[in-house]
This record gives sequence, structure tokens and C-alpha cells, in this order.
Amino acid sequence: MKNKMIHALAATAVAATMLGAPMASQAASADEAKMIAEGKKIAFSRSKGNCLACHMIKGGSLPGNIGPALIAMKLRYPDKQKLRDKIWGKPELEVKYSMMPPFGRHAILSEDQIDKVVEFIYSL
Ligand code: HEC
Repeated sequence: MKNKMIHALAATAVAATMLGAPMASQAASADEAKMIAEGKKIAFSRSKGNCLACHMIKGGSLPGNIGPALIAMKLRYPDKQKLRDKIWGKPELEVKYSMMPPFGRHAILSEDQIDKVVEFIYSL
């Protein structure tokens, strides 16, 4: 009897792992894709991020060249938090006389909007 129960429990655990794990990871990547898509909209919007005014970004048209092209960002910023701090405008990461707006410090974008923009930029 006891043995049978253990067997049933083990079978349930295996089934849960088989069903649960891929579903969980799919949900995570769907969330991530949504964040990236929303971040792209904010980054490209003239009234929000307006990043294209100064940066070349894949998928954007008529980019400016005041700032560097935003490519291979995972290589440039292995630490995603540092990329966020840069876009947020942490004073210690600021380049003197740069035209890069401190998006968080000057409340140009909300914290939530910055999170989405970071996901998008990090995907480039
Ligand atoms: C008015 C021009 C301007 C706008 C608008 C602008 N940037 Fe910048 N950005 C710059 C300049 C200039 C630099 C280079 C000097 C510096 O690091 O501040 C820069 C640097 C950066 C860097 C660092 C690049 C590196 O290789 O280290 C990132 C990341 C970045 N910008 C992201 C963004 C994002 C995301 C947006 C939109 C939400 C944006 N920028 C909007 C001018 C701009």
C-alpha cells in the first residue's frame, strides 16, 4: 500500500516536471518578448525615449548619429544592471557634456518604461 502511494507520488512528480517545466519557460519567454516589444515602442516613440534621434538602432529609420550605434549590447554591458543605470542616468556613469538624457533621474521615463527599454536594448 505504502509502496503504491510512493509510486503514484513519483509518477505525479515526473508528470508535473514534464508538463510544468516547459510551460513555465514558455511563459517566461512570452513575457520577455512582450517587454521587448513594448520597450521598442517606447524607445522609438518621438515623445518618449526618442533614442533614434541620436542612436542607430536595428529596425529604426532615419537615425541620428550624436550617440554610438546601439549594437551588441550584451557584449558592451555583460551586467544588465549597469546598462539600466546608464540609461537611468546614474551620475557615476555619466559622460561629461554628453547629450544622452538621464531618463530616470530626470523622470523622462517611468521606472517601468525604463525596465522595458532595457529589455529591448539588451536584445540588440
Ligand atoms: C540627444 C541625444 C541622445 C538621445 C535622445 C539618447 N541618447 Fe543615448 N547616448 C547619447 C550620447 C551622445 C552617448 C555617448 C556618451 C554617453 O555615454 O553619454 C549615448 C550613450 C548611450 C549608451 C551607452 C553606449 C555605450 O556603448 O556605452 C546607451 C546604452 C544609450 N545611450 C542608450 C540610449 C537609449 C536607450 C535612449 C532612448 C531611451 C537614448 N540613449 C537616447 C545621446 C543620446
